[in-house]
Amino acid sequence: MQNTAKDIEMPDKNLEDKLDFPTVRDIDLAGKTVLLRADLNVPKHNSQISDHTRIDRLKPTLDFLRENKAKTVVISHFGRPDGDRNPQMSLAFLTPVLEKRWEAPVTFAPDCIGDQTKDIIGRMKPGDVVLLENVRYYKEEEQNDPEFAKALAGLGDLYVNDAFSAAHRAHASTEGITRHLPSAAGLLMEEELNALSAALVAPQRPVMAFTGGSKISTKLKVLNNLIPKVDFLVLGGAMANTFLHAQGHNVGNSMCETEMADEARKIMAFAQKSECEIILPQDVVTVRELKENAEHNTVDVSAIPSDNSAIDLGERSIAYICEKIKSCKTVLWNGPLGVFEIKPFDAGTNAVAKAVAEQTRKKLCTSVAGGGDTVAALENAGVTEDFSYISTAGGAFLEWLEGKTLPGVQALLKK
Ligand code: 3PG
Repeated sequence: MQNTAKDIEMPDKNLEDKLDFPTVRDIDLAGKTVLLRADLNVPKHNSQISDHTRIDRLKPTLDFLRENKAKTVVISHFGRPDGDRNPQMSLAFLTPVLEKRWEAPVTFAPDCIGDQTKDIIGRMKPGDVVLLENVRYYKEEEQNDPEFAKALAGLGDLYVNDAFSAAHRAHASTEGITRHLPSAAGLLMEEELNALSAALVAPQRPVMAFTGGSKISTKLKVLNNLIPKVDFLVLGGAMANTFLHAQGHNVGNSMCETEMADEARKIMAFAQKSECEIILPQDVVTVRELKENAEHNTVDVSAIPSDNSAIDLGERSIAYICEKIKSCKTVLWNGPLGVFEIKPFDAGTNAVAKAVAEQTRKKLCTSVAGGGDTVAALENAGVTEDFSYISTAGGAFLEWLEGKTLPGVQALLKK
């Protein structure tokens, strides 16, 4: 289990006032049907869940609701089915997983609204748990359709949001529903808000941010917001290839968004103006074919062979980043730096994560990480216990870092 909010000092004494929201502890739960918005959008690799953190971190709220005799109806999305009943994105497969990890019987409802769902909920007893089918099977969810929000709200007496990681979405199950039911934060939502606020409202400088992974175009906008706030911005994963391409390097067969080159150049110019050092790989590990233990070489970024893909940081890059980490007091991490799921291409992420963990252990820096893939990558590196705080959020984590108001959080605040 990752470190919790208690490990981080609160820098801003007024913070609790600013984030004044009721929690499950403030409401009478006995016999009530509680609609619990969870984020069960867990990472899957070869049909297997590659990381159970999001499920495990919900257990305290589940236990609390069950101990207090609530009937818990879990609402979640999974993937982006865009309003279609795509069986690949059904939540049914999670039922036995939840039963095991939450140590509670879970009944699956094959829809998230409608008469059949109402019947299933109507048969619940205090302490029971029902999991509803993917709420994004309805396009009205993402549209925050008022009628759909009302239909969801009609299933229960109270609404509890424990999905900080989906709070950046103004959807029917995260925002609209709060207009119809008394609403409160779950224990995980509370922990996330307390910990991230404490770490990000007034971070100690220098600050180093890591962004990696493959959601390149979606993250470029975020980078513009990070640059004025951090001293070092390390770019890894496919995003780095786009920047290397923008600098004129041949990135061979590497994943790269060539059409974003101009945007990448603008970002680099902005960073220079803002005195934020963008740290790109100096050397990379490349393969012809991406598979476990594939034949690989480490090459300078100026010498990536045309039939190769860059999939991890090289040793020179690792050494440079690790040296910089020693000068930083705050580290924010979102996204793995290489293809960490396939060995040995987790080496770069592992080495850098261990360097951050060591500085944190020595109490020389506060380290905050977020993102489904990030958590899996840090678990793979064996360092989650040593980070100051590990958020369950990906996109919401970065939007929070930008200082944006998250609609799912805003909807819970006392007016
Ligand atoms: C996430 O994984 O970040 C959340 O579940 C939100 O998912 P989304 O980006 O598809 O809205």
